[in-house]
Amino acid sequence: MNPTDAAQFDSNGRLRHLLTLNGLGRARIVAMLDRAAALRETWRDGALQPILAGRTVMNLFFEDSTRTRTSFELAARRLGAAVVNFDIARSSTSKGETLEDTLLTLEAMEADAFIVRHKNNGTPARCAAHARRAAIINAGDGNHAHPTQGLLDLLTIRDHKKDIEGLNVTICGDVRHSRVARSDIAGLAALGAGEIRICGPAPLLPERAEFPRCRIVEDFDTALANCDVVIMLRLQKERMESALGLAEADYFAAYGLTPERLARARKDALVMHPGPMNRGVEIADAVADGSQSVILEQVANGIFVRMAVLAELLGDR
Ligand code: CP
Repeated sequence: MNPTDAAQFDSNGRLRHLLTLNGLGRARIVAMLDRAAALRETWRDGALQPILAGRTVMNLFFEDSTRTRTSFELAARRLGAAVVNFDIARSSTSKGETLEDTLLTLEAMEADAFIVRHKNNGTPARCAAHARRAAIINAGDGNHAHPTQGLLDLLTIRDHKKDIEGLNVTICGDVRHSRVARSDIAGLAALGAGEIRICGPAPLLPERAEFPRCRIVEDFDTALANCDVVIMLRLQKERMESALGLAEADYFAAYGLTPERLARARKDALVMHPGPMNRGVEIADAVADGSQSVILEQVANGIFVRMAVLAELLGDR
Protein backbone atom coordinates (compact mmCIF):
# COMPACT_ATOMS: atom_id res chain seq x y z
CA MET A 1 0.00 0.00 0.00
CA ASN A 2 1.42 3.42 -0.86
CA PRO A 3 2.15 5.81 2.07
CA THR A 4 -0.82 8.13 1.37
CA ASP A 5 -3.25 5.22 1.27
CA ALA A 6 -1.74 3.76 4.45
CA ALA A 7 -1.85 7.11 6.31
CA GLN A 8 -5.57 6.79 6.84
CA PHE A 9 -5.22 3.76 9.15
CA ASP A 10 -4.06 3.70 12.77
CA SER A 11 -1.51 1.22 14.09
CA ASN A 12 -4.30 -1.32 14.70
CA GLY A 13 -5.47 -1.12 11.08
CA ARG A 14 -8.61 0.87 11.99
CA LEU A 15 -9.74 3.70 9.75
CA ARG A 16 -8.63 6.93 11.46
CA HIS A 17 -9.03 9.34 8.53
CA LEU A 18 -10.70 9.04 5.12
CA LEU A 19 -8.28 10.28 2.47
CA THR A 20 -8.90 7.96 -0.49
CA LEU A 21 -10.79 4.80 -1.45
CA ASN A 22 -7.51 3.22 -2.62
CA GLY A 23 -6.48 0.51 -0.22
CA LEU A 24 -9.79 0.44 1.69
CA GLY A 25 -10.73 -2.95 0.25
CA ARG A 26 -14.06 -4.46 -0.69
CA ALA A 27 -15.24 -5.47 2.80
CA ARG A 28 -14.74 -2.03 4.31
CA ILE A 29 -16.39 -0.27 1.35
CA VAL A 30 -19.39 -2.62 1.44
CA ALA A 31 -19.70 -2.10 5.22
CA MET A 32 -19.69 1.68 4.69
CA LEU A 33 -22.40 1.42 1.99
CA ASP A 34 -24.48 -0.87 4.22
CA ARG A 35 -24.14 1.61 7.06
CA ALA A 36 -25.23 4.50 4.81
CA ALA A 37 -28.27 2.51 3.63
CA ALA A 38 -29.17 1.62 7.24
CA LEU A 39 -28.85 5.25 8.34
CA ARG A 40 -31.08 6.27 5.42
CA GLU A 41 -33.75 3.84 6.56
CA THR A 42 -33.49 4.95 10.19
CA TRP A 43 -33.70 8.60 9.16
CA ARG A 44 -36.79 7.94 7.03
CA ASP A 45 -38.36 6.04 9.91
CA GLY A 46 -37.75 9.04 12.18
CA ALA A 47 -35.68 6.86 14.50
CA LEU A 48 -32.20 8.34 14.06
CA GLN A 49 -30.22 8.68 17.31
CA PRO A 50 -27.90 11.68 17.92
CA ILE A 51 -24.83 9.44 18.18
CA LEU A 52 -22.46 12.37 17.62
CA ALA A 53 -23.94 14.64 20.31
CA GLY A 54 -21.17 16.63 21.95
CA ARG A 55 -18.86 16.25 18.93
CA THR A 56 -17.70 19.10 16.71
CA VAL A 57 -17.20 18.87 12.95
CA MET A 58 -15.38 21.67 11.12
CA ASN A 59 -15.72 22.31 7.39
CA LEU A 60 -12.43 23.59 5.95
CA PHE A 61 -13.25 24.34 2.32
CA PHE A 62 -10.42 26.11 0.49
CA GLU A 63 -12.36 25.53 -2.77
CA ASP A 64 -16.02 26.25 -3.47
CA SER A 65 -18.69 23.61 -3.03
CA THR A 66 -22.47 23.29 -3.05
CA ARG A 67 -23.15 19.56 -2.59
CA THR A 68 -20.26 18.33 -0.48
CA ARG A 69 -20.14 21.11 2.07
CA THR A 70 -23.90 21.31 2.57
CA SER A 71 -24.34 17.56 2.82
CA PHE A 72 -21.51 17.18 5.33
CA GLU A 73 -23.16 19.87 7.42
CA LEU A 74 -26.56 18.17 7.22
CA ALA A 75 -25.01 14.78 7.94
CA ALA A 76 -23.20 16.02 11.04
CA ARG A 77 -26.24 17.92 12.35
CA ARG A 78 -28.57 14.98 11.81
CA LEU A 79 -26.22 12.89 13.96
CA GLY A 80 -26.26 15.55 16.69
CA ALA A 81 -22.80 17.10 16.14
CA ALA A 82 -22.06 20.82 16.26
CA VAL A 83 -20.83 22.17 12.90
CA VAL A 84 -18.47 25.06 12.19
CA ASN A 85 -18.17 26.31 8.64
CA PHE A 86 -14.72 27.85 8.87
CA ASP A 87 -14.60 31.03 6.77
CA ILE A 88 -11.20 30.77 5.09
CA ALA A 89 -11.51 34.15 3.34
CA ARG A 90 -11.97 35.99 6.66
CA SER A 91 -9.52 33.89 8.65
CA SER A 92 -5.96 34.57 9.79
CA THR A 93 -4.63 32.53 6.87
CA SER A 94 -4.70 35.96 5.14
CA LYS A 95 -2.08 37.09 7.70
CA GLY A 96 0.19 34.22 6.77
CA GLU A 97 -0.88 31.60 9.32
CA THR A 98 0.11 28.22 7.96
CA LEU A 99 -2.27 25.38 7.25
CA GLU A 100 -0.70 23.36 10.05
CA ASP A 101 -1.06 26.17 12.63
CA THR A 102 -4.63 26.81 11.50
CA LEU A 103 -5.42 23.14 11.99
CA LEU A 104 -3.78 22.90 15.42
CA THR A 105 -5.52 26.12 16.53
CA LEU A 106 -8.94 24.80 15.56
CA GLU A 107 -8.14 21.39 17.02
CA ALA A 108 -7.34 23.11 20.35
CA MET A 109 -10.99 24.26 20.29
CA GLU A 110 -11.87 20.56 20.46
CA ALA A 111 -12.70 19.87 16.84
CA ASP A 112 -13.28 16.14 16.41
CA ALA A 113 -13.22 16.09 12.62
CA PHE A 114 -12.10 18.34 9.79
CA ILE A 115 -13.70 18.07 6.35
CA VAL A 116 -10.99 19.35 4.01
CA ARG A 117 -11.29 20.46 0.39
CA HIS A 118 -8.28 21.99 -1.37
CA LYS A 119 -7.06 22.57 -4.90
CA ASN A 120 -3.73 20.87 -4.16
CA ASN A 121 -3.37 17.09 -4.16
CA GLY A 122 -2.30 15.80 -0.76
CA THR A 123 -3.54 18.64 1.46
CA PRO A 124 -5.90 16.38 3.47
CA ALA A 125 -3.00 13.92 3.94
CA ARG A 126 -0.86 16.84 5.15
CA CYS A 127 -3.59 17.69 7.67
CA ALA A 128 -3.78 14.04 8.75
CA ALA A 129 -0.05 14.04 9.41
CA HIS A 130 -0.44 17.01 11.77
CA ALA A 131 -3.77 16.30 13.48
CA ARG A 132 -3.25 15.17 17.06
CA ARG A 133 -6.68 13.66 17.70
CA ALA A 134 -9.14 14.89 15.08
CA ALA A 135 -10.16 12.78 12.09
CA ILE A 136 -9.53 14.23 8.61
CA ILE A 137 -12.01 13.57 5.83
CA ASN A 138 -10.99 14.40 2.29
CA ALA A 139 -13.77 16.40 0.61
CA GLY A 140 -11.81 16.58 -2.66
CA ASP A 141 -8.12 17.41 -3.25
CA GLY A 142 -6.97 18.55 -6.69
CA ASN A 143 -7.39 15.67 -9.11
CA HIS A 144 -6.34 13.12 -6.49
CA ALA A 145 -9.44 11.85 -4.68
CA HIS A 146 -13.01 12.58 -3.61
CA PRO A 147 -13.73 9.46 -1.55
CA THR A 148 -17.20 10.35 -0.27
CA GLN A 149 -18.30 11.14 -3.85
CA GLY A 150 -16.99 7.70 -4.83
CA LEU A 151 -19.00 6.07 -2.03
CA LEU A 152 -22.21 7.93 -2.84
CA ASP A 153 -21.85 6.98 -6.49
CA LEU A 154 -21.43 3.32 -5.51
CA LEU A 155 -24.45 3.49 -3.21
CA THR A 156 -26.57 5.02 -5.98
CA ILE A 157 -25.52 2.33 -8.46
CA ARG A 158 -26.15 -0.40 -5.88
CA ASP A 159 -29.63 0.98 -5.16
CA HIS A 160 -30.60 0.30 -8.78
CA LYS A 161 -28.42 -2.57 -9.87
CA LYS A 162 -28.21 -4.59 -6.65
CA ASP A 163 -24.75 -5.87 -7.50
CA ILE A 164 -21.90 -3.84 -8.94
CA GLU A 165 -19.92 -6.94 -9.89
CA GLY A 166 -19.74 -7.35 -13.65
CA LEU A 167 -21.35 -4.02 -14.56
CA ASN A 168 -19.88 -2.11 -17.50
CA VAL A 169 -19.30 1.50 -16.56
CA THR A 170 -18.38 4.32 -18.93
CA ILE A 171 -16.81 7.45 -17.46
CA CYS A 172 -16.82 10.26 -20.00
CA GLY A 173 -15.30 13.72 -20.03
CA ASP A 174 -12.42 15.40 -18.28
CA VAL A 175 -10.94 12.32 -16.60
CA ARG A 176 -7.44 13.82 -16.50
CA HIS A 177 -8.47 16.50 -14.02
CA SER A 178 -11.13 14.53 -12.18
CA ARG A 179 -10.79 13.41 -8.57
CA VAL A 180 -14.30 11.97 -8.87
CA ALA A 181 -13.20 9.64 -11.69
CA ARG A 182 -10.23 8.45 -9.61
CA SER A 183 -12.37 7.66 -6.59
CA ASP A 184 -15.11 6.08 -8.71
CA ILE A 185 -12.57 3.86 -10.47
CA ALA A 186 -11.00 2.81 -7.14
CA GLY A 187 -14.42 1.94 -5.70
CA LEU A 188 -15.75 0.21 -8.82
CA ALA A 189 -12.59 -1.86 -9.13
CA ALA A 190 -12.75 -2.87 -5.44
CA LEU A 191 -16.35 -4.03 -5.92
CA GLY A 192 -15.56 -6.05 -9.05
CA ALA A 193 -17.18 -3.95 -11.78
CA GLY A 194 -16.88 -5.39 -15.28
CA GLU A 195 -15.30 -3.19 -17.93
CA ILE A 196 -14.55 0.34 -16.76
CA ARG A 197 -14.27 2.52 -19.85
CA ILE A 198 -12.67 5.92 -19.83
CA CYS A 199 -13.71 8.21 -22.67
CA GLY A 200 -12.88 11.75 -23.73
CA PRO A 201 -10.74 13.80 -26.12
CA ALA A 202 -7.03 12.98 -25.98
CA PRO A 203 -6.00 16.11 -23.98
CA LEU A 204 -8.47 15.16 -21.23
CA LEU A 205 -7.46 11.52 -20.96
CA PRO A 206 -5.09 10.34 -18.22
CA GLU A 207 -1.83 8.52 -18.86
CA ARG A 208 -2.70 4.94 -19.83
CA ALA A 209 -0.33 3.60 -17.15
CA GLU A 210 -2.34 5.25 -14.37
CA PHE A 211 -5.38 3.04 -14.99
CA PRO A 212 -4.25 -0.39 -16.19
CA ARG A 213 -7.65 -1.77 -15.05
CA CYS A 214 -9.57 0.50 -17.47
CA ARG A 215 -10.14 0.52 -21.22
CA ILE A 216 -9.51 3.90 -22.80
CA VAL A 217 -11.88 4.65 -25.70
CA GLU A 218 -11.78 7.98 -27.52
CA ASP A 219 -15.00 7.45 -29.46
CA PHE A 220 -18.03 8.04 -27.22
CA ASP A 221 -20.45 5.95 -29.28
CA THR A 222 -18.12 2.95 -28.96
CA ALA A 223 -17.69 3.57 -25.24
CA LEU A 224 -21.46 3.53 -24.70
CA ALA A 225 -22.18 0.15 -26.31
CA ASN A 226 -23.64 -2.31 -23.76
CA CYS A 227 -22.84 -0.10 -20.82
CA ASP A 228 -24.86 -0.30 -17.59
CA VAL A 229 -23.82 3.01 -16.10
CA VAL A 230 -22.68 6.27 -17.73
CA ILE A 231 -20.87 8.73 -15.50
CA MET A 232 -20.51 12.14 -17.15
CA LEU A 233 -17.85 14.53 -15.85
CA ARG A 234 -17.58 18.29 -15.77
CA LEU A 235 -14.97 20.09 -17.87
CA GLN A 236 -12.71 21.40 -15.09
CA LYS A 237 -11.37 24.55 -16.66
CA GLU A 238 -9.93 25.66 -13.32
CA ARG A 239 -7.49 22.72 -13.41
CA MET A 240 -6.48 22.99 -17.10
CA GLU A 241 -3.06 24.46 -17.79
CA SER A 242 -4.10 25.54 -21.27
CA ALA A 243 -7.43 25.91 -23.04
CA LEU A 244 -8.87 22.69 -24.45
CA GLY A 245 -8.81 24.13 -27.97
CA LEU A 246 -12.27 22.76 -28.68
CA ALA A 247 -15.36 24.98 -28.83
CA GLU A 248 -18.07 23.93 -26.39
CA ALA A 249 -20.43 23.16 -29.30
CA ASP A 250 -17.80 20.84 -30.84
CA TYR A 251 -17.19 19.20 -27.47
CA PHE A 252 -20.92 18.59 -27.08
CA ALA A 253 -21.14 17.16 -30.61
CA ALA A 254 -18.41 14.63 -29.83
CA TYR A 255 -18.84 13.94 -26.10
CA GLY A 256 -22.18 15.37 -25.00
CA LEU A 257 -24.69 12.81 -23.74
CA THR A 258 -27.87 13.20 -25.82
CA PRO A 259 -30.95 10.92 -25.92
CA GLU A 260 -29.75 9.51 -29.28
CA ARG A 261 -26.36 8.63 -27.82
CA LEU A 262 -27.82 7.20 -24.63
CA ALA A 263 -29.84 4.78 -26.79
CA ARG A 264 -26.53 3.00 -27.53
CA ALA A 265 -26.19 2.00 -23.89
CA ARG A 266 -28.30 -0.72 -22.25
CA LYS A 267 -31.99 0.22 -22.01
CA ASP A 268 -31.81 0.41 -18.24
CA ALA A 269 -28.45 2.21 -18.11
CA LEU A 270 -28.10 4.75 -15.32
CA VAL A 271 -27.02 8.31 -16.09
CA MET A 272 -24.87 9.93 -13.42
CA HIS A 273 -23.03 13.21 -12.97
CA PRO A 274 -21.31 14.39 -9.78
CA GLY A 275 -22.30 18.00 -10.45
CA PRO A 276 -22.04 20.83 -10.98
CA MET A 277 -23.22 20.18 -14.54
CA ASN A 278 -22.54 22.24 -17.62
CA ARG A 279 -25.82 21.62 -19.40
CA GLY A 280 -25.52 21.65 -23.17
CA VAL A 281 -21.76 21.05 -22.91
CA GLU A 282 -21.47 17.63 -21.21
CA ILE A 283 -25.08 16.60 -21.08
CA ALA A 284 -28.37 17.50 -22.78
CA ASP A 285 -31.27 18.71 -20.62
CA ALA A 286 -33.43 15.83 -21.83
CA VAL A 287 -30.90 13.34 -20.42
CA ALA A 288 -30.01 15.21 -17.24
CA ASP A 289 -33.72 15.47 -16.38
CA GLY A 290 -34.74 12.22 -18.05
CA SER A 291 -36.05 8.95 -16.64
CA GLN A 292 -32.61 7.27 -16.60
CA SER A 293 -30.96 10.09 -14.67
CA VAL A 294 -30.11 9.40 -11.01
CA ILE A 295 -28.24 12.67 -10.55
CA LEU A 296 -30.47 13.98 -7.76
CA GLU A 297 -30.42 10.57 -6.06
CA GLN A 298 -26.63 10.92 -5.98
CA VAL A 299 -27.08 14.23 -4.18
CA ALA A 300 -29.52 12.76 -1.64
CA ASN A 301 -27.28 9.74 -1.02
CA GLY A 302 -24.39 12.09 -0.32
CA ILE A 303 -25.92 12.96 3.04
CA PHE A 304 -26.27 9.32 4.13
CA VAL A 305 -22.81 8.33 2.96
CA ARG A 306 -21.34 11.27 4.85
CA MET A 307 -23.33 10.30 7.93
CA ALA A 308 -21.87 6.79 7.65
CA VAL A 309 -18.33 8.12 7.32
CA LEU A 310 -18.72 10.45 10.31
CA ALA A 311 -20.27 7.64 12.36
CA GLU A 312 -17.42 5.31 11.42
CA LEU A 313 -14.67 7.79 12.25
CA LEU A 314 -16.20 9.45 15.32
CA GLY A 315 -19.09 7.41 16.63
CA ASP A 316 -17.28 4.18 17.34
CA ARG A 317 -14.40 5.70 19.25
N1 CP B 1 -19.74 16.78 -6.58
C1 CP B 1 -19.22 17.77 -5.85
O1 CP B 1 -18.16 17.63 -5.22
O2 CP B 1 -19.94 18.93 -5.88
P1 CP B 1 -19.57 20.27 -5.09
O3 CP B 1 -18.33 20.83 -5.72
O4 CP B 1 -20.76 21.15 -5.27
O5 CP B 1 -19.32 19.90 -3.66
